[in-house]
Amino acid sequence: MQSLTTFLFLALSASLATCKTITYNWSIDFVNAAPDNFTRQVIGINGQWPCPTIEGTVGDQIVVHVTNNLGTQSTGLHFHGLNQFGTQVMDGPSGVTQCPIQPGGTFTYSFNLDAPGTFWYHSHNMGQYPDGLRGPLIVHDPNDPYAGQFDEEFVLTVSDWYHTPVPTLIDQMLVTTNTHFLPPFPDALLVNDSSSAQLNFQAGKTYKIKVISMAAFAAVLLQFDSHTMHLISIDGSYVQKKDAYQIRVAPAQRYEFLLTAQTSVRRNYGFLASLDMNRDYATGGATNVWPFNITGVIQYDASKGAPPAFSVPAWTSVQDDAKLVALDNQALIGQPDVVDKDIRLNFNFGFDVNGIPRAYFNNSTYISQKVPSLFTAFTTGSSNTNPIIYGDVNPFVVNKGDVVQIVVNNLDAAIHPFHLHGHQFQVCERPESGKGSYTGHGRNFPAVPPKRDTIAVNAGSYVVLRFKAENPGVWLFHCHIEWHVIMGLSATIIEAPQELAGLTIPADHLAVCQAQGIPTAGNAAGNTANYTDLTGANTVPLFPDRGALFPKRSVPQVSAMKRDKRTSKLARRAADFAIDGYGL
Ligand SMILES: *[C@@H]1O[C@H](CO)[C@@H](O)[C@H](O)[C@H]1NC(C)=O
Ligand SMILES: *[C@@H]1O[C@H](CO)[C@@H](O)[C@H](O)[C@H]1NC(C)=O
Ligand SMILES: *[C@@H]1O[C@H](CO)[C@@H](O)[C@H](O)[C@H]1NC(C)=O
Ligand SMILES: *[C@@H]1O[C@H](CO)[C@@H](O)[C@H](O)[C@H]1NC(C)=O
Ligand SMILES: *[C@@H]1O[C@H](CO)[C@@H](O)[C@H](O)[C@H]1NC(C)=O
Ligand SMILES: *[C@@H]1O[C@H](CO)[C@@H](O)[C@H](O)[C@H]1NC(C)=O
Ligand SMILES: *[C@@H]1O[C@H](CO)[C@@H](O)[C@H](O)[C@H]1NC(C)=O
Repeated sequence: MQSLTTFLFLALSASLATCKTITYNWSIDFVNAAPDNFTRQVIGINGQWPCPTIEGTVGDQIVVHVTNNLGTQSTGLHFHGLNQFGTQVMDGPSGVTQCPIQPGGTFTYSFNLDAPGTFWYHSHNMGQYPDGLRGPLIVHDPNDPYAGQFDEEFVLTVSDWYHTPVPTLIDQMLVTTNTHFLPPFPDALLVNDSSSAQLNFQAGKTYKIKVISMAAFAAVLLQFDSHTMHLISIDGSYVQKKDAYQIRVAPAQRYEFLLTAQTSVRRNYGFLASLDMNRDYATGGATNVWPFNITGVIQYDASKGAPPAFSVPAWTSVQDDAKLVALDNQALIGQPDVVDKDIRLNFNFGFDVNGIPRAYFNNSTYISQKVPSLFTAFTTGSSNTNPIIYGDVNPFVVNKGDVVQIVVNNLDAAIHPFHLHGHQFQVCERPESGKGSYTGHGRNFPAVPPKRDTIAVNAGSYVVLRFKAENPGVWLFHCHIEWHVIMGLSATIIEAPQELAGLTIPADHLAVCQAQGIPTAGNAAGNTANYTDLTGANTVPLFPDRGALFPKRSVPQVSAMKRDKRTSKLARRAADFAIDGYGL
């Protein structure tokens, strides 16, 4: 044992020799911005918006000191796609791995960049990131398998955008009259947090483009005039190079691809980004489904003038990302028809006891608990393997080393992007829409599935995902349409709990809980004597749940007149999109 420890220490010291610590000191505050010429208050960092990029190289240590200067809202940061191996307490979702950071509170995130790729960070505190608190997170790869095949790299972010602040949008969504379960519809599309984008190309060169969707609701379709995308990575997992003319980037997904410039300069070229508001892309048809477009420019030579108009006749041949092949050749985990833990989740919409629209896994909506779930795992000893003690957070315990399969049967008529924290899962099967629920036995699974952290599940269809339980922690699995997180479309994977018992909570993390009187030990209800006694645990979602607001305001009852107005507004929107039960 001694020699193994010494060996590991030496190996680690050697590999870390050139690594550095990169420190960010961030004040999270309100600023004004007008990315689409509409001026509104947004959440920025150090008085700036767009928010800065976190950037480092594999092996680097990132330290982010956060001070919440919002005054009226709590906050927090999640580092999307980073697996936080050994630093599960730094993952960031409020109520899961930490308490929200209260106004005036300070908090430090510290973690290692252990894998290369294109990631992003965002608030994971009750719907807050569409108000602006999100930015790129880039991890450079000293051993890039595609090194030598490109000359320069660009980041290109895409997102939908709202003119109304999130707390107001949540108030309008979580009402008994929202019988179609409608989320708020965006007011604009942004590319690179602006309404225009220009890529400067030189003839003969090849560019690596890193696309990040920071959207809350809608996917973005992308096509470049006369330049084929050569896909090389999805969500931080390299894939075998594959050509694509169009891609559909769902909320929270990332794509890296190479674009080879023309060999000689004849003109400039356009590229089109379209916001996909179609609830089920595959069926098309509905009017007004791509209401927001941005035509970007691939600029070779300014003197050649603006590029000719570029439009896309049909968004048809969208790349099937479930058919890509992982570059590391990792075989399907487990046997096609045998896994250690099979978690099957039927997802649909319904109403809670207050008649408020919610989203459900197997008729169970996620309800945030008094004690953050990870702290329950830390403080309840060997009882932490009992899912009951975590309360109504859709808890699933998986043991260290288990081959875990998650099946989502999407009973809704819209596409939904599902994200797992802490893992790059294998996508074993993701059929087209209308295929019904999964009844198979893995016979169609590829030998080498693609891996990613966010997968779009088609309407009336399913996805089968797998991962090996080797990352002890408490990891959320949820739809990345932020409005559906608010509606409760989350489950909690409690992974290798035996290894979590007795771990310590950093002092500054404890301090933000204490400042708000949030308990940090015991079961979901904070009971430290009898863990199976859930008396006092939250069993009904807050009404309405506006967790980003601080201090929590009591909600006045909606007057009959206002309710009528909202009904007609929602009815109009439903009619505009010719839809019923528009889940997307
Ligand atoms: C961060 O910045 C604030 C305000 O400029 C300063 O008071 C504080 O000392 C800084 N913290 C660190 C860790 O650098
Ligand atoms: C914003 O204003 C600029 C300058 O007037 C204009 O060029 C641009 O088209 C406007 N963008 C939008 C989305 O309205
Ligand atoms: C987009 O923004 C990033 C910084 O976030 C910048 O590095 C990149 O060059 C921009 N891309 C374009 C096309 O403007
Ligand atoms: C956006 O682009 C698509 C594809 O070219 C087109 O079908 C759609 O009509 C455009 N929408 C608007 C509002 O221009
Ligand atoms: C969810 O419900 C389906 C259908 O009844 C069932 O097959 C599945 O096992 C359930 N999943 C869980 C995790 O209970
Ligand atoms: C959900 O509840 C409905 C109504 O009680 C029932 O028909 C359905 O089988 C349940 N679904 C699951 C997956 O448990
Ligand atoms: C703990 O609480 C459970 C549920 O209320 C109860 O059944 C059990 O008897 C309690 N155990 C003890 C030792 O009090």
